[in-house]
Amino acid sequence: MSNSSRTPRSILITGGAGFIGSNFVHHWCESYPDDRVVVLDALTYAGNRATLADLEEKPKFRFVDGDICDRDLVETLLREESIDTVAHFAAESHVDRSILGPDAFVQTNVIGTFVLLEAFRQYYPALTEAGKSGLFLHVSTDEVYGSLEPDDPAFSETTSYEPNSPYSASKASSDHFARAYFHTYGLPTIITNCSNNYGPYHFPEKLVPLMCINMLLGKPLPVYGDGLNVRDWLFVRDHCTALDTVIHLGKPGETYNIGGNNEVANIDLVKMLCGLMDELAPNLPTRPSESLITYVKDRAGHDRRYAIDATKIETELGWKPSVTVEEGLRQTVEWYLANEAWWKPLLSAEYQAYYDTVYQ
Ligand code: NAD
Ligand code: TYD
Repeated sequence: MSNSSRTPRSILITGGAGFIGSNFVHHWCESYPDDRVVVLDALTYAGNRATLADLEEKPKFRFVDGDICDRDLVETLLREESIDTVAHFAAESHVDRSILGPDAFVQTNVIGTFVLLEAFRQYYPALTEAGKSGLFLHVSTDEVYGSLEPDDPAFSETTSYEPNSPYSASKASSDHFARAYFHTYGLPTIITNCSNNYGPYHFPEKLVPLMCINMLLGKPLPVYGDGLNVRDWLFVRDHCTALDTVIHLGKPGETYNIGGNNEVANIDLVKMLCGLMDELAPNLPTRPSESLITYVKDRAGHDRRYAIDATKIETELGWKPSVTVEEGLRQTVEWYLANEAWWKPLLSAEYQAYYDTVYQ
């Protein structure tokens, strides 16, 4: 997005200390240095303020350690910072944790989104009276559409919702609220449904970082079931450019699917990561890395296949991913090799307890 003729925004980014949120915060601060950027994040196990350390001294940047369910706090921030754009990433995001304990998913993903929408609805008239336009971008997932058979067409924006996990059910619910606030109150909301992201600053519990870190530690690489579940993979920085495009060019009330056009079976993705690790870290003790692959008990209710049809955002808004999955995974493995100081402290006793429960 060109920076030349644009009016600076005041943007509230929820969940900005998490994986995608922090990549988005970096993208936004690099692209639009004149914008006010306010991050609201409760710093759960998945939030890491250190990821934003290089931004903390910048006068246009503010970090607020707080919960999106705290209505007073959200209302104060909207007013105090004259927010015109909300980019809502904050969520409980891991399917396996939603199976172990769905409560937090309902609280943050459903109630938290409702609180944000309601606060924005109350605040919005003051924004328009001041002659400004506003936007509430609700960042969501392709998992709300359910599971595809091998020959089914990819998910489009009109595919019906069939969420199968507590995580996807909570995200589906929050999507419905974002949609309803446009239709009922005319609040300018946009929903994006994106496929699986990978890249820097990804918490160790998810497939790609888990495999990278376990290879570096010489630990087994746990593949669920037969390893033939298929996901569409998108480099996180490409997701950020897509969201940037949607904020600037998207139409309120619309939904945009975002994907990488990179459908890969889990076992093939893990083998690609193994090949990259063998090439980029030739001195690791376990060789080849593929020898660490271990098939483990399948996830309950494991969706078989996700695939995204991203034609709408490509043709209507002109966005396309910039890297192939091969190139993006290479950059990701290089990043985990170079940034042990970021991921090692995350392997806490709490994380180990979670790991033991899931992979016992
Ligand atoms: P993440 O788990 O890495 O980060 C979530 C962030 O939200 C953390 O910083 C956490 O501290 C914060 N948070 C959690 N509860 C909060 C609360 N109550 N109040 C304030 N902050 C809170 O998640 P992610 O992978 O970066 O995903 C971000 C968003 O993108 C989510 O809404 C997710 O559903 C969606 N999404 C993720 C993917 C993916 O592949 N990871 C794909 C598509 C969509
Ligand atoms: P994940 O990164 O948890 O994303 P999601 O479930 O939201 O798609 O998992 C991606 C795929 O990898 C999914 O099919 C489950 C599988 N998987 C494993 O096989 N082993 C693992 O240890 C993990 C975490 C995931």
